[in-house]
Amino acid sequence: MGIAAIAALAGILFGFDMGVVSGAILFIKTEFNLSAQANGLVVSAVLLGALLGAMMSGLLTDNLGRRKLLLIDALIFIFGTIVTAVSPDIVLIIIGRIVVGIAIGVASYVAPLYISEISPAKYRGALVCLNQLAITLGILISYIVDYHYAQEGLWRWMFAAGVIPAIVFFFGLMLLPDSPRWMASKGHIHQALITLERIYKNKKMALYELSAIERTLDQPSSGSWRVLFSPFIRSTLTIGVGLAILQQITGINAIIYYAPTILQMAGLESATAAIYATIGMGVVFVLFTIIALPLIDTLGRRPLLLMGLSGMAISLLALSIAFVSTEPSQLMRWLSMVGMLTYIGCFAFSLGPIMWLMISEIYPLKVRGLGASLATTVNWASNILVAYSFLTLVELFKLSGTFCIYFAASILGILFVYFLVPETKHVTLEQIEESLRAGLSFRRLGKVDEPKK
Ligand code: BGC
Repeated sequence: MGIAAIAALAGILFGFDMGVVSGAILFIKTEFNLSAQANGLVVSAVLLGALLGAMMSGLLTDNLGRRKLLLIDALIFIFGTIVTAVSPDIVLIIIGRIVVGIAIGVASYVAPLYISEISPAKYRGALVCLNQLAITLGILISYIVDYHYAQEGLWRWMFAAGVIPAIVFFFGLMLLPDSPRWMASKGHIHQALITLERIYKNKKMALYELSAIERTLDQPSSGSWRVLFSPFIRSTLTIGVGLAILQQITGINAIIYYAPTILQMAGLESATAAIYATIGMGVVFVLFTIIALPLIDTLGRRPLLLMGLSGMAISLLALSIAFVSTEPSQLMRWLSMVGMLTYIGCFAFSLGPIMWLMISEIYPLKVRGLGASLATTVNWASNILVAYSFLTLVELFKLSGTFCIYFAASILGILFVYFLVPETKHVTLEQIEESLRAGLSFRRLGKVDEPKK
């Protein structure tokens, strides 16, 4: 739990550094007299960086190891944050934000991967979910920090505050062991056993796990793009990439980024209403992620995904109906508020955490980093696509039609999960890998012999 909590600090950095710009941009815009394009670049630089970070680091995750890469990543966070905060001009601000984005892209999947590999199967879901909880807390903290410094327009301090969790993360990581699974894959069997004993507090269980890990390593393959695209991993690739796309095309970031705009269209024009709505959304996000923690290893991933996606679909349909008329009304204000909050609550206990969880558990050990990096790259690319297309979609199809598109994506999501996504609760990472090698596909992954506990 302690190990997972330190690793989940990466989530705080992810959320904080994503959210903080929304407050800072208001002051940067006036201080540097920014054009609309430059304004857009400052805001989206982090997304671009995240895409690059996720794309470039896959092989590094498997070669350097999860912990070492996270240590380097913490330094990148610190460096990028300092560059942004002290920057004398707009170009350096954008470069600093791209650097921070790269760090976010790496942290977004390496932290869940690391937690997944150091967790006992029984609690793996909840422990990996701590990362999503940290993301939502990070976003909330960024709003509070922005609010605090906004009174005096101290945008440099808004960014600079991000250095504190980055330093804590760096020193925390120094105390942690490497992932036992990664160590075993590099031939450090003895250290792997010591770490497994520390995790399970039971020598028999540790030996059992180690032999299962060693069995998967007996296979004559080394990690590479060729292995990732080999036929026996095809089902996992489909599931990982599919969930990564679904998490975005169902519209979460359109709602997060444009909530004030949406509320304005519903007739809630005052700035205070927008602030309350944003904070309300942040609180709902945190609360519903907490609800997911105990459920993810008891109810399981599939029921949560199916319930969450159904709730998201119903909320999106309600939002679509609310905006059929373009004349703001009391009913529209009420429906849009409730629709957005239910949508966010449903995302928070399902697709939000479970996408990151599943991409960190379904790939075989030798290409786990590479596979998760590919899914993460697709996730960030879809994030950018949704963020950029939202306003154009609203112009073409109005808000009602746009919500209808996200609704259709949620229905697609329900079908995808129902027919293709396996239940991985209580299944060890090695059982998943063995079932892949045995040729079981999609929903049957992990359905090989259970360990006796
Ligand atoms: C998603 C992000 C989203 C965040 C909100 C994450 O799981 O990947 O795109 O902004 O949740 O908390």
